[in-house]
Amino acid sequence: MAEPIRVLVTGAAGQIAYSLLFSVAKGDVFGKNQPITLLLLDIPPMMTVLGGVVMELQDCALPLLREIVATDKVEVAFKDLDAAILVGSMPRKEGMGRKDLLKANVAIFQTQGAALDKYAKKTVKVLVVGNPANTNCLIAMKSAPSIPKENFSCLTRLDHNRARSQVAMRCGVPATHVKNMIIWGNHSFTQYPDVHHCKVNVSGNEVDCFDAVKDEAWLKGDFIATVQQRGAAIIKARKLSSGMSAAKAICDHMRDIWFGTPEGEFISMGVYSTGNTYKVPNDLIYSFPVQIKNKSWKIVEGLAINDFSKAKMEATATELINERNTAMEFLAK
Ligand SMILES: NC(=O)c1ccc[n+]([C@@H]2O[C@H](COP(=O)([O-])OP(=O)(O)OC[C@H]3O[C@@H](n4cnc5c(N)ncnc54)[C@H](O)[C@@H]3O)[C@@H](O)[C@H]2O)c1
Repeated sequence: MAEPIRVLVTGAAGQIAYSLLFSVAKGDVFGKNQPITLLLLDIPPMMTVLGGVVMELQDCALPLLREIVATDKVEVAFKDLDAAILVGSMPRKEGMGRKDLLKANVAIFQTQGAALDKYAKKTVKVLVVGNPANTNCLIAMKSAPSIPKENFSCLTRLDHNRARSQVAMRCGVPATHVKNMIIWGNHSFTQYPDVHHCKVNVSGNEVDCFDAVKDEAWLKGDFIATVQQRGAAIIKARKLSSGMSAAKAICDHMRDIWFGTPEGEFISMGVYSTGNTYKVPNDLIYSFPVQIKNKSWKIVEGLAINDFSKAKMEATATELINERNTAMEFLAK
């Protein structure tokens, strides 16, 4: 059997990690023949809780899980990493403005980016989940100049999965019968779930999403709003943000990085925008349609963009530019 790979999960005592760690440790992400050393990072006050998570992982008696390292020290957590799943971030507290939240997260992702730069393998694949995920990813990437920019991505797969499921439910087909959904932009209310290139398998025939759904007003209205506001709807109902579905999306995203996307299909993820041909401004982490092969992603180029889509893509880019500019002010200090 292969040598164990070293996989970091930050925010390891939190609720997403609680749903995620079992799947990662049992081989759903890196393969059923790939042993794993799990590195679990959280902050000092959470070490007792993290100890409980470690006990549970041990009690799962998983054959691939060779070692668990639970720590509050970045120099331990980031050592020789093959993959880093950065979930932990500063949550918004009562009375905290968006700027304060961004400031706290810039500090976290600057530190963790520097730790990646110093301690991780140069081939490490980094997935940022903690919000604001796109901008946190940009900060981590900029703080790790020795690691290729292409190794960084942020999670918009949950939005992608949400959008797929909405269409699937509407058409009465399994979610796997809906492909090539696109999420453009920021993982926020301004994101744009775009069905113009989406296909639905209806009774064995692949048809355009608009023909399968047969309700253009819904696809251009309530569908978009539902996906954009799904996170808030879940918080309202559960009094907690998405946990299980976020964990599933993280697994989907990292598994696709490791093993590639199916031939002829694309998925959505936040990647570095510089060099794209969609006229999305440079120097952002922006969600695009991508295909992945040999652990490298490529933006799917040449898709037709109509005026409806263009306006929505620009709106979410504007939000990301503002977020980046504020974050960069904090980074400089
Ligand atoms: N991108 C997405 O699609 C998506 C989806 C859902 C949630 N999220 C985000 O994921 C993050 C985690 O969500 P959760 O529900 O697990 O939150 P949670 O509060 O349950 O857990 C977060 C954990 O991170 C830890 N943490 C805080 N600062 C840290 C640091 N500097 N280093 C290591 N650990 C640290 C906390 O102590 C806590 O244990 C949030 O920012 C949330 O908004 C993103």
